Amino acid sequence: IPVETFDLVIFGGTGDLARRKILPALFRRFQAGQMPEESRIIGAARSEMGTKEFRAFVGEAIGEFIPAEEAPAKAVENFLRHISYVAVDARGTDGWSDLSAQVRQDVIQAFYFSVAPALFGDLAERLHEHGIAGPESRIVVEKPFGRDLESAHALNATLAAHFDEHQIYRIDHYLGKETVQNLMAVRFGNILFEPLWNAQYVDHVQITVAETVGVEGRGAYYDLSGAMRDMVQNHMMQLLCLIAMEPPSQFEPDAVRDEKLKVIRALDPVAPAEIVRGQYKAGNGRPSYVEGVENPDSRTESFIAMRVDIANWRWKGTPFYLRTGKRLKSRMSEIVVTFREPPHSIFGEEAGKSANVLVIRLQPDEGITLRVTIKEPGPGGMRLVDVPLDMTFAEALGPDADDIPDAYERLIMDVIRGNQTLFMRGDEVEAAWAWTDPIIAAWSDKGDRPLPYETGSTGPEDALMLLHRDGRRWREIEV
Ligand code: BG6
Repeated sequence: IPVETFDLVIFGGTGDLARRKILPALFRRFQAGQMPEESRIIGAARSEMGTKEFRAFVGEAIGEFIPAEEAPAKAVENFLRHISYVAVDARGTDGWSDLSAQVRQDVIQAFYFSVAPALFGDLAERLHEHGIAGPESRIVVEKPFGRDLESAHALNATLAAHFDEHQIYRIDHYLGKETVQNLMAVRFGNILFEPLWNAQYVDHVQITVAETVGVEGRGAYYDLSGAMRDMVQNHMMQLLCLIAMEPPSQFEPDAVRDEKLKVIRALDPVAPAEIVRGQYKAGNGRPSYVEGVENPDSRTESFIAMRVDIANWRWKGTPFYLRTGKRLKSRMSEIVVTFREPPHSIFGEEAGKSANVLVIRLQPDEGITLRVTIKEPGPGGMRLVDVPLDMTFAEALGPDADDIPDAYERLIMDVIRGNQTLFMRGDEVEAAWAWTDPIIAAWSDKGDRPLPYETGSTGPEDALMLLHRDGRRWREIEV
């Protein structure tokens, strides 16, 4: 879908997120012909520098994060022509009239707040004081969106003082991942799955987001967050919602977000016995968690596994198991929907058991596989085996599979298009914190210590037990 001419201002334009994600994503969309000729990207930050220096910075970011063959010099040069820079002081008056002169009023305006949340209020105020933002301007904010219900509520109030909800784009980059959207296509674009998509036919669901990285360089932020705040409250919650929600009447922002909100509100509180927290040890020549965050007494978790139950008609009796951690065996994210076994086997015990499994792989090798039961070939009688029905994009779509855009490319273009479907609404974020807060309070009140686990493992042994005691097991973390 084409986009209209825009002015995109990136506050925090010289920051890490801009360098690693936002600017390379914009370049890729430019390369894909999605950036109208007259559009501009304006970097805004405190550093005193000119457009020339900022362009050099952007050029370097592209060089670092995009393979050379995908970024020919000529294309980079053309892209840089769209870029300028203004030094602004978020808390003062410097630079704002320059910015006001640069941002056009007759094109789409988007302001990316890639800065600490403490500055959101200042930026919003200045943008209005200087007549830069109007009733149709869009603002983009990143996580962390608060660290508990109270702070998230305060942030929402700060933004709401200046912008209407339809102007606010809260990014959760997991919603921009191709397979996450494909999950919705599979659920609601086929007649096959939805009739079985409930506690009567689904035994349980697993959501795993395993990483090999540690806290590397983000210790100060991470140690105050932990896996629960960093991953579960947002990314994993969003995945859970998309699996568990009722079919929205339309693929429209509020229709989808209303359904997600209902799921969050239906989540049962989670008892401490349903949670395993872990913290990685030193290994493979890399420092331990506590060394990484430079806090020898840290009780923050870098791993969490938990059982979540949803108290509604569709899901009562079907647990959702969530697991995420750093320094694990492989980088792998997937959702596994395990269906119940057929009620009666006409082939008898010796033929073997079978249960259908739908695996939705987010990364790497994004794709969807349905495991189905067939007869093992050969004359040896009726023996059952399960085989994959593979919907891996690379197989099914051929060369088009290479064109899968990065989450940020998709989401930034959605901002320009004015489509909020893949962004979180304020009430959704608050509901997620309302569920998260008591869980965190329960372990911090007790001074609970996370269990140590080996680098390169699948997390603490107790995480395996969490499923074993329910007669289930995790799918392997493997690529
Ligand atoms: C971020 C978290 O939101 O998501 C990081 O803050 C985490 O800790 C990252 O590493 C994972 O994202 P992805 O896209 O690499 O799975």
